[in-house]
Amino acid sequence: MSSKLIAPSILAADFANLQRDVEMVNNSDADWFHIDIMDGVFVPNISFGMPVLHAITKHAKKTIDVHLMIVDPDRYIKTFADLGSDVLTVHYEACTHLHRTLQAIKAEGMKAGVALNPHTNISLLEDTINDIDLVCIMSVNPGFGGQSFIENTYNKVKQLKDLINRKGASTKIEIDGGVTNKNAKQLIDAGADVLVAGSYVFKSTDQPKTIKDLKALANS
Ligand code: DX5
Ligand code: ZN
Repeated sequence: MSSKLIAPSILAADFANLQRDVEMVNNSDADWFHIDIMDGVFVPNISFGMPVLHAITKHAKKTIDVHLMIVDPDRYIKTFADLGSDVLTVHYEACTHLHRTLQAIKAEGMKAGVALNPHTNISLLEDTINDIDLVCIMSVNPGFGGQSFIENTYNKVKQLKDLINRKGASTKIEIDGGVTNKNAKQLIDAGADVLVAGSYVFKSTDQPKTIKDLKALANS
């Protein structure tokens, strides 16, 4: 079985010490950088934009996983490719022509991801799952770090895993929001491949150890 991945969410980093926190992730057992872009329209919060992502990618040495929480994401696909995104995830709820958007992301050489809000049913991906490299199941309502995990997520992971198997797809399952050592193992057992963790990593006193332990738990 391929190894399960840990993606610290930079939203919870100390922006006054961004380079230090990026280097911490570089030197840790983490696999990906998870980058949350919020526009204040699709979600009720604004995070950061291109100049900050540029500053991060100057130092980051691991996969850049960009999670766009913005309306009309097609406008910025090329921009995020040019900034060094490896995985570009758009929200199902923000795309009128999801299939077209996925093709456009891949045409720019990136992996294409789709994020689902907690209310969005897995069955809506029946006709696109074979075109999706990563599904990000939101385990909180998007917009803020530090929220509590929604328990129904386990059911959604199982439903998605069944859909992927049934369609013979190679899509990875990512979980985003409220991930800790309390739910990590159960999420992996349900079928998750990538665990995003913001507050749990960055608010801990020994961040590299928190990442190492979470990764060991996910792969146990
Ligand atoms: C929420 C973001 C998450 C957030 C996770 O809208 O998409 O990536 O950073 O933060 P925690 O792990 O603190 O819930
Ligand atoms: Zn995210």
